[in-house]
Amino acid sequence: MTKKLIRLFPPASEQIDIKGLYLAHKIHLLGSCESPFVYANFLSSLDGRIALEDAVEGSTFVPKHLTSVSDFGLFMELHAQADCLITHGGYLRALSQGHLGNILQIKDAELMAWRHEHGLKAQPAVIIASASLDFPMHESLLNTSQPVYIATGKNADPERVDYWQRQGFTVLFTGADQLVQGAALVHELGKLGYRSIYLIAGPQMLDTMIQEHQLSRLYLTITHQLLGGKDFRTLLTGSVLGQEGNLSLEALFLEQNPAPEAGQFFMQFSARSKNGTIDTD
Ligand SMILES: NC(=O)c1ccc[n+]([C@@H]2O[C@H](COP(=O)([O-])OP(=O)(O)OC[C@H]3O[C@@H](n4cnc5c(N)ncnc54)[C@H](OP(=O)(O)O)[C@@H]3O)[C@@H](O)[C@H]2O)c1
Repeated sequence: MTKKLIRLFPPASEQIDIKGLYLAHKIHLLGSCESPFVYANFLSSLDGRIALEDAVEGSTFVPKHLTSVSDFGLFMELHAQADCLITHGGYLRALSQGHLGNILQIKDAELMAWRHEHGLKAQPAVIIASASLDFPMHESLLNTSQPVYIATGKNADPERVDYWQRQGFTVLFTGADQLVQGAALVHELGKLGYRSIYLIAGPQMLDTMIQEHQLSRLYLTITHQLLGGKDFRTLLTGSVLGQEGNLSLEALFLEQNPAPEAGQFFMQFSARSKNGTIDTD
C-alpha cells in the first residue's frame, strides 16, 4: 500500500498518496526548446547538510540514513519526466570507484511505461558537465541509444577534448573559460530539442544554473534529522545571491513516520526568472 502524505500547503490539510505525487506535475510539458524547464531536487537534513566530507579521503558522501525509499521514489518520478539529465565529471568518477550507484537510467518498469505513454524516449539524454574532462565513461553509456554529450568551457584542455571526440562523443562548448555556464548550456540543450532538463548534480552545478537564472523549479526534501559534523556540503556554493535566491513556495507535504523512523517534508519552490517574474506552470 502506498504511503500517505499530509498536504500542508496550499492549505486544506488532506491525505494524499506519495506514489505519483511528482509524476502528476507533468514536467515534460512545462518547457519548450526556446525555454527549457530546468529542475533540481535536493535532500537535506534539518541542519542544512546534503553531504558530509570524509576528512581523511577528502571525498564527500551522503549518509545512508539520510536517504529513504520515499525520497528516492520521488527522485525517480522526477527522473522519469526528463528528456535530458545533467550530471558531471565528479559523478562519473564516483560511479567508477563504486562510491555511488548508477542513476543514469530508468529501470523501474512502471516508470518506463509512463515515459512510453507520455511520448518520451525510453531513456533521457545524458549531459556530463566537466571542466577537467578527466573522468571515465560509464559502461552503461557506451553502445546505447541514450544520447551522451560532454559539456565544458572553450578553454578546456585541447588534449582532453580531442580524446573524447576521438571516442565519438560530441563536446558542447558552453562557457567562456573552462567552466560551463548555465545560460549557454541550457540554450544549447534547447537547440538540441530538449525541453525538460533534470539537474542531478550538486552545489556547484546548482550554483552554475541559479547564478544565470536558469533554474525553473527546485524540489527539496528536508528529512527530520540533524546530521552534525564539521565538514559538510550544503545546497549551494559560490558567491552571495541577490534576489535570484528568493524562491516562492508552491507546495509542502509532510510524511509522518513512527519513531525511530524520521519524518520528512517534501517541498516545491518556483525560482525567479531573469525578468523578475516567478516561473510557474
Ligand atoms: N543530498 C542531496 O540531495 C545531494 C544532491 C547532489 C549531490 N549531493 C552530494 O553532494 C556532494 C557534492 O556534490 P557533487 O560533487 O555531486 O556536485 P557539484 O559540486 O555540483 O559538482 C562537482 C563537479 O561537477 C563539475 N562541475 C561543477 N560545476 C561545473 C561547471 N560550471 N562547469 C563544468 N564542470 C562543473 C566538476 O567536474 P570536473 O571536476 O570533472 O571538472 C566538479 O568536480 C556529493 O557527495 C554528492 O553526492 C547530495
